[in-house]
Amino acid sequence: MPVIAIASPKGGAGKSTTAVILATELAHAGAQVTLLDCDPNQSVSLWAGRAPLPPRLACISNVSESEIVRTIRKHDGDGKIVIVDLEGVASRLVSRAISQADLVLTPMRATTLDATIGVRALELVAEEEEALGRPIRHAVVFTMTRAIRSKQHSAIEASLGGQGVDVIEPPLMERAAFSALFEFGGDLRSIPAQGRMDGAIENAQAFAQQVFARLTEASR
Ligand SMILES: Nc1ncnc2c1ncn2[C@@H]1O[C@H](COP(=O)(O)OP(=O)(O)OP(=O)(O)O)[C@@H](O)[C@H]1O
Ligand SMILES: [Mg+2]
Repeated sequence: MPVIAIASPKGGAGKSTTAVILATELAHAGAQVTLLDCDPNQSVSLWAGRAPLPPRLACISNVSESEIVRTIRKHDGDGKIVIVDLEGVASRLVSRAISQADLVLTPMRATTLDATIGVRALELVAEEEEALGRPIRHAVVFTMTRAIRSKQHSAIEASLGGQGVDVIEPPLMERAAFSALFEFGGDLRSIPAQGRMDGAIENAQAFAQQVFARLTEASR
């Protein structure tokens, strides 16, 4: 069953936030989800320690380079979804996680600098595709997007689209509720209200559905 690796060498791109939103929304929708924390900074493990985990969600901390492939395979059972949160670097651990993935998601802020560095994640995917001799589905998700899209955002989106990169719509908007997940633990339905929670839940749900749709389609 599906393995989703969240990868970008750009620090602070929104990887751990994307991993937690995706894991909690897919679990809420009924999937059994295992979240693997492969980042020595342990953002996801800190989140998991703050509140009881939502139903159907398990979190495994401290997954190292030597254990990553085995751990993914162990949890990649029938009907389960494995989500791998990675450090903001290009490393052997990241490449190994990518090699096991059915979908690689690259969160990216829509600024020129972030996009330039973020695109290197797509190069890592291309290297693994070459090594394995098969395509690995990948997609970019814009993160921390403002309600009014900047010209820079539209230009970066058009440029990625022109290169045949799959860009997930909707992006993850910049929302207090998304950063508050790490303050309180749990999911968007359990944390104290931060602004308009319906909007945050709607955004998270629509994003998770789009990711799920890509898992069920044939890989490109
Ligand atoms: N959509 C969002 N809305 C509001 N804040 C966000 C959003 N996405 C990320 N953030 C905030 O931006 C910061 C960086 O996000 P996050 O930790 O998810 O990035 P990361 O790519 O995992 O970073 P690292 O490379 O250090 O692992 C955090 O403070 C997080 O709360
Ligand atoms: Mg992180």
